[in-house]
Amino acid sequence: MKKEMQFNQIKVIVCDTYDELSAEAAEIVAAEMKKKPDFVLGLATGSSPVGLYTKLAEKNRAGEIDFANVRTFNLDEYYPIDPTNDQSYRYFMNKNLFNKTNIKLENTRVPDGTAADTDKFCQSYEDDIKAAGGVDLQVLGIGNNGHIGFNEPCDKFYNITHVVELTENTIEANSRFFESADLVPKKAITMGVGTIMNAKKIVLVANGKNKAQALYEALCCDVTPNNQCSVLQYHKDVTMILDKDAASLLK
Ligand code: GLP
Repeated sequence: MKKEMQFNQIKVIVCDTYDELSAEAAEIVAAEMKKKPDFVLGLATGSSPVGLYTKLAEKNRAGEIDFANVRTFNLDEYYPIDPTNDQSYRYFMNKNLFNKTNIKLENTRVPDGTAADTDKFCQSYEDDIKAAGGVDLQVLGIGNNGHIGFNEPCDKFYNITHVVELTENTIEANSRFFESADLVPKKAITMGVGTIMNAKKIVLVANGKNKAQALYEALCCDVTPNNQCSVLQYHKDVTMILDKDAASLLK
């Protein structure tokens, strides 16, 4: 059973289970994709959207949605990291979505963790998003410190794609995927908050108690760069799809 809540402009759908949350998100993304064959899909990594990607791949196999002309831009990538490293976000996307669909790999973009000139790369990523006509729908997760992409809590909002130093909290949270915390890259390339806010539609998925406080701050408190997700309050088309645990502090 799902429940809907509204926080100013933001629609929140609370589902009982992770599987229901993933199915709900997949319905919304699929419905949008059907409107436009050359859809521009913004993608996120992390454990939260894995169920959504599995369901999108199932819909693709069933012939319900077609990725043949879809173009994708991922939010972020560790820096430096090689795309063949099994902890890179490029590797994650190939494994969890791209290799399971009929998308053309050349139409998929993940920030380049090997870029020698990162300033030049970041500008070209922005230019390429613009040239594609902008992101039609951006999938987001949320860090337990409120980060979106790798926009970490700080004293400002960064507008465009940039290099960021990861916080200790994020290195610690993400070390579960690495053999040890020392192996987590200390930097990342991430779309800026401005890049994310330019997406025409945003779908955020989150599950688990460890996201509850960050979501409470993002939805029920003032907009602040200390919780970068709170900026979504200023976007006119955001849907958050949460499980009961992630939504447990919302009222
Ligand atoms: C990662 C990613 C984010 C993601 C977040 C949550 O560090 N950079 O884009 O949303 O952290 O990850 P998870 O879904 O595994 O909790």
